[in-house]
Amino acid sequence: MDKKKRVGILISGRGSNMRSLIEAAKNPNFPAQIVVVISNRPKAAGLQTAQDEGIKNLAIDHRKYDNRTAFEEDLHQALVEAKVDLICNAGFLRLLTADFVDKWHDRQLNIHPSLLPSFKGLHTHQRVLEAGIKITGCTVHLVRTDMDAGPIIAQSAVCVEPGDDEERLSARVLAAEHLLYPHALELFASEKVIVKNERIELADQNLTQADNRSGPIFSPTLPLKQQL
Ligand code: GAR
Repeated sequence: MDKKKRVGILISGRGSNMRSLIEAAKNPNFPAQIVVVISNRPKAAGLQTAQDEGIKNLAIDHRKYDNRTAFEEDLHQALVEAKVDLICNAGFLRLLTADFVDKWHDRQLNIHPSLLPSFKGLHTHQRVLEAGIKITGCTVHLVRTDMDAGPIIAQSAVCVEPGDDEERLSARVLAAEHLLYPHALELFASEKVIVKNERIELADQNLTQADNRSGPIFSPTLPLKQQL
């Protein structure tokens, strides 16, 4: 395998998606290694998880900065110092300015708990339930200046079930996220997919579509491979 991509994960809270990436990266064949975890909130539970896993971790507390630019300069510097190739936002709930986003163009991934471009922003599951749609899901995409926009790497669909409330639905979508994010990072870090005209395409057209397909309907009981 080519050299593994060095990944920095940005979190703000519990970091369950971060954990799924850390677990996936333990596989010697995974094309990425997690080299640093950074939280904008010093009390984020995910920092302790990273610590327990022996991964370099630090808090860069945005509240200690007068403005976004100064915060982002330190964030950028910490990522550069860790020699990061790719950033994975994993529940990082801080808007980033165009300046930062441009510096990491095509090198920053994000996970969002809906089938984008529907339901961008916060309180996703509540809005999904209010809208009465029957299928939702999650998306991994490249970060662009517009919030929750950017080329889509992979998506997973999750059925909204009768009787769902926010808690039940978010738990099922989260379980799908935990399978989807490692899958998307694997595709992107291995360069099986590339960005072309702001869309994600297979790098090698000889690869089958299965190499770039997300799970059509997510079932927590099936491993992702069987859903492809
Ligand atoms: C996840 O559901 C993630 O998709 C969402 O925050 C949660 C973080 O959970 N992100 C967004 O809403 C970003 N717009 P985690 O800390 O357990 O990974």
